[in-house]
Amino acid sequence: MKTEFRVLFFRLLVALLLSGTAFAQKPELARTPPMGWNSWNHFRTNITDAILRAQADALVKNGMKNVGYEYVVIDGGWEGFHDEQGNFHPDPQKFPDMRVLVDYIHGLGLKVGIHTTPGPKTCSGREGSYGHEKQDAETFAKWGIDFIKYDWCTAGQVYQPDQMQAVYKKFADALTATGRPMLLSLCQYGMQNVWKWGASVGAQMWRTTNDIQDNYYQMMFIGLGQNGLEKYAGPGHWNDPDMLEVGNGNMKDEEYRTHMTLWCILAAPLFSGNDLTGMSPATLEILTNPEVIAVDQDAAGVQGHRVWQEGPTEVWIKPLADGSKAIAAFNRETRPMRVDINFAELSLPAAIQARDLWAHKDLENFEQTMTTTVPGHGSILLKVKPAAK
Ligand code: GLA
Repeated sequence: MKTEFRVLFFRLLVALLLSGTAFAQKPELARTPPMGWNSWNHFRTNITDAILRAQADALVKNGMKNVGYEYVVIDGGWEGFHDEQGNFHPDPQKFPDMRVLVDYIHGLGLKVGIHTTPGPKTCSGREGSYGHEKQDAETFAKWGIDFIKYDWCTAGQVYQPDQMQAVYKKFADALTATGRPMLLSLCQYGMQNVWKWGASVGAQMWRTTNDIQDNYYQMMFIGLGQNGLEKYAGPGHWNDPDMLEVGNGNMKDEEYRTHMTLWCILAAPLFSGNDLTGMSPATLEILTNPEVIAVDQDAAGVQGHRVWQEGPTEVWIKPLADGSKAIAAFNRETRPMRVDINFAELSLPAAIQARDLWAHKDLENFEQTMTTTVPGHGSILLKVKPAAK
């Protein structure tokens, strides 16, 4: 009886350990939300080797690398053709030698990402990985790629919807088989509640929605729509509400600050999507505020959620590893609105000490409530902890 019990206990332990690994695959690849730059939002398919080098150079020179932006992602537009041996080649007019470009970016102390699709064609009609998955994974490993954005695009023409998870798993397994750690970023616009299975097919992040646009309403629609998905994110596996539009020109700086506040309270991957060679000081400041980024990159890896809402104003909270909390308030109205943050309603202690992370400023201590005015389309971002007695 005793031995049987021991065998049962051992089996249970093994089962537990195995089920744990499903959600913690390669967590070292994305312990905190991945950060970097992606070519798509600004350049679309108009990318070249020279543009990629210039963006990577700028990322280092302007201080973004220092605050954590790490991956330079070559999105759609690089693809050429598969040759008779099935080897994937970049468009020779735009990318003469991918390995040389990757070496250059690595030489700057950065990592490199690339976009492909399980479909026959990318979303822009260029060559996809369909039928070449294993060999393409090997090619990417040979080039020294560190990150793959695997975008559904035209895969619906060759696969049934119920094959989607297997299609993604097949590619994740092909990446693992290369022996090179490559972060897998799923892009299928949130279909089939991807947040429920993205980690189990081997991805470190997955897009939860359709494409973002450089537009305040679309950005807020996507960002605020993440509420409720917080239980699916954590170290090694993240919900991705899409790349940043900060600095692309169609929002006001106040709105871009809101974009950043929202993405950071969400523990979202932070991929800037603007032209890094020509941005304003205000854009750079929004992208590189270390105290704001620290909320996103907090080691506890908890995605924030909405705790209070009244008309166009709302308050979100994100617990941090040191026991303090990040609090964000948003105002969707175009004119300034008063927001009363009631500590009891937010399960906060009666007396708190607060720091304004955008202003880099400790505020006075507050009791019971904190009244603040949030600018039109603006936000505030605070770090709060119990006031010292
Ligand atoms: C899709 C993705 C975008 C981008 C383009 C490239 O639309 O959602 O992020 O990768 O494809 O064609």
